[in-house]
Formats: sequence, structure tokens, C-alpha cells
Amino acid sequence: MQRSTHALVCSLLLLTAIAVGASAQTAPPPTKEPSVDYWQPPWMQRELWGPGTMPPGMRARLLRHYTFMHYGVQKEYQGAKSTVGNAKEALEEGAKIYAQRCAGCHGNQGLGDGDAPRSLLPSPALLAFMIQRPIAVDEYLLWSIAEGGKQFDTQMPAFKDTLKREDIWKIIAYMRAGFSDQPKAPQVK
Ligand code: HEC
Repeated sequence: MQRSTHALVCSLLLLTAIAVGASAQTAPPPTKEPSVDYWQPPWMQRELWGPGTMPPGMRARLLRHYTFMHYGVQKEYQGAKSTVGNAKEALEEGAKIYAQRCAGCHGNQGLGDGDAPRSLLPSPALLAFMIQRPIAVDEYLLWSIAEGGKQFDTQMPAFKDTLKREDIWKIIAYMRAGFSDQPKAPQVK
């Protein structure tokens, strides 16, 4: 008795697996229609906002964050910490390099409004905003700037061969100082 129940359960599982496999193969291609949360009653349905249902630019940005959170960075960036602090000299140099190498796309104040990027998709990140987000830790910024966006199919260049690591840290210090080359005292409320 127990054996036959077991056999029955096994064959049911097998059939389900085959059915799921078959339906995965024959699933229709995703449409351009907005996805709707069909589990809700009609008056509560809303368009879903998720990786498959957001504009491509937003998806690319999410992919960078997602990759960092779930897979981490290559060995050479793991645990990397800034080596330049936020002394005035570091900020001044960071400001210079930022103006030469980054401002054309990301804008002088990191507002994503440089001259170059009008046609880029995704558009250059709003660095002034993202630098204040919790994700903007040393490891994340170094990895993003050094490796660029090739793996995410974006136009963010890789700087690992054209900037010294120390220069990247200086740019980061400059951005963290609020896109200013003047050190700021921490704000205490
Ligand atoms: C050719 C234009 C271009 C230049 C030059 C450029 N970037 Fe970018 N950058 C982009 C684009 C487009 C994105 C958004 C797509 C992505 O995240 O890959 C981006 C994304 C980023 C991100 C990730 C932001 C986030 O939301 O997590 C950082 C950090 C960054 N850039 C820093 C820099 C720095 C620092 C420089 C200069 C050393 C620089 N970029 C130069 C186009 C550019």
C-alpha cells in the first residue's frame, strides 16, 4: 500500500515536471503590453514594476546594483578601501580628473547633464544622487568606475587601464565632498 502510494506520488511529480518543462518551452514571447498583477481583484490591479517591466535604461541600472548585491565583485576589488582620505589635495586633484574624464557625460555637478550623453541609453547616472545612497561603498564605486558598463551593455567606459587606482579614489573623495574641492566638516544636527 505504502509502496504504491509512493509510486503514485512519484509519477505525479514526474508528470508535473514534464508539464512545467513543456510549458516553459512553448511559453509565448513576452509582449509589449504592460504587465498586470492578475492576482488582485480588478479594482486593485496595477502595473507591475520589476526587472521585466521597466524601461530599458532603468533595467540596466538595476542590473548593476543587482549584480553587486547578489554576486559581488571580482577578486581584485574585494574589500578595497580608499587610500586617499579627503584631504584638500586629494579633493583638488579629484576635481581636476573628474572634470577631464567624467563631467562630459555625468555633468559638472554629477547631475547626468554633460554634453556628450544626450543620446545615451541608459543615460549617465546621476552621480550626485547615487553617491549618497547606501550602496555607494568603496568597493562598489571602485568596481563600477574601473570596470565600466561593458558587462551591462552600457556606455560607461572602463577606467582601469587609463586611471591609476589612486586617481579613482580621488575622484570618489571629490564626489563624496559634494562635488566640491573644499573639505566639509561633517554636519551635526
Ligand atoms: C561616455 C560617457 C561616460 C563617461 C565619460 C563616464 N561615465 Fe559613468 N556612466 C555612464 C553611463 C551611461 C552610466 C549608466 C550605466 C551604467 O551604470 O553602466 C554610468 C554609470 C556610472 C556609475 C554607476 C552609477 C550607479 O548608479 O551605480 C558610476 C559610479 C560612474 N558612472 C562614475 C563615473 C566616473 C567617476 C567617471 C569618470 C572617471 C565616469 N563615470 C565617466 C557614462 C559615462
